[in-house]
Amino acid sequence: MNSIKDFLTREHRACDEHLGAAETAAERGDTEAARSHFLLLKRDIEHHFRSEEEALFPLLEAKAGAYSGPTNVMRSEHSQIRALLDDMEEALGTANANLFLDLSDTLMVMVQQHNMKEEQVLYPLADQVLQTNEMEEVLSTFRETAPMS
Ligand SMILES: [Fe+2]
Ligand SMILES: [Fe+2]
Repeated sequence: MNSIKDFLTREHRACDEHLGAAETAAERGDTEAARSHFLLLKRDIEHHFRSEEEALFPLLEAKAGAYSGPTNVMRSEHSQIRALLDDMEEALGTANANLFLDLSDTLMVMVQQHNMKEEQVLYPLADQVLQTNEMEEVLSTFRETAPMS
């Protein structure tokens, strides 16, 4: 069986790849290609965030009130990342590759820091405190709602 950490870390890596591809396209001034990679990134990040916010975090929070501190920090970082994605989409809408690349540098740093906290602290915690049936349920929700790629 998959662990929460393995499953969600793989989703982080998939998002990294979309972001890398969008940046490479923007660097050569191809804002159309950047846009199609960016839309995949946005779709996959949104699915990933919703999996965390609607399935994983509530389950962790229900385990003990003490877990709501870290999950609240994660939720607020999600909203900062979403706002940045909106700005990036706007930059692509006006074909402003330079602005897109500036914002994308900021996004990269924010996402790396966020993901590191999840991969090193929150996901191992989830793997430790969730019962096998709870974990299977969460993982099957993640899989069922995953966008087709
Ligand atoms: Fe997250
Ligand atoms: Fe995550």
